[in-house]
Amino acid sequence: MKKIWLTLLVLLVIIQFIHPKKNQAAGAQPAAIGTQYAVPDSVQHILAVSCNDCHSNNTVYPWYSKLQPVDWWLNHHVNEGKEELNFDAFADYSPRKQYHKLDELIKEVKEDGMPLDSYTWIHKDALLSTEQKATLTNWADGIRRQLEQKYPPDSLNRPGKRP
Ligand code: HEC
Repeated sequence: MKKIWLTLLVLLVIIQFIHPKKNQAAGAQPAAIGTQYAVPDSVQHILAVSCNDCHSNNTVYPWYSKLQPVDWWLNHHVNEGKEELNFDAFADYSPRKQYHKLDELIKEVKEDGMPLDSYTWIHKDALLSTEQKATLTNWADGIRRQLEQKYPPDSLNRPGKRP
């Protein structure tokens, strides 16, 4: 029994030295959503505080990311979130994908699905107020309308009527 604990302890010490690559890209991001669409300061602020740690090319890492296996767990969320939606790659998405992601954003924010609960437990400031939710969903809806005006409905894969 003692041997097992000792082995685990040694492993725990060893993994402290192993960290995944950080999600921190330098400089301006060429495909950021702001290069294609207007992002007012109020929206930029919400994205920065509540979303970008998992949906951009730059994560602000908390001190406990130095601890393993916490860092692996954080890294998993960042990778998964970025894969679903990356505001720093948004301008490279097809119009159809952009439209779909905006739909999802509006849905997630209205249903309190995002930011993730496990994030807001610690980042209390990331919790969205009713006003912030409206700011974010109205902004996303504005971009949806721009896409609707520019592309025919079937190229956006949307039903004739707005949801
Ligand atoms: C702690 C990390 C984290 C934060 C912070 C976060 N997300 Fe996410 N987000 C994820 C992960 C992980 C997924 C994929 C798994 C899932 O859907 O639960 C996701 C999925 C999504 C999706 C779904 C995309 C799709 O196509 O289904 C949208 C939209 C989204 N997030 C928007 C937001 C917005 C808007 C914010 C800020 C208000 C935000 N997220 C904050 C981690 C995060």
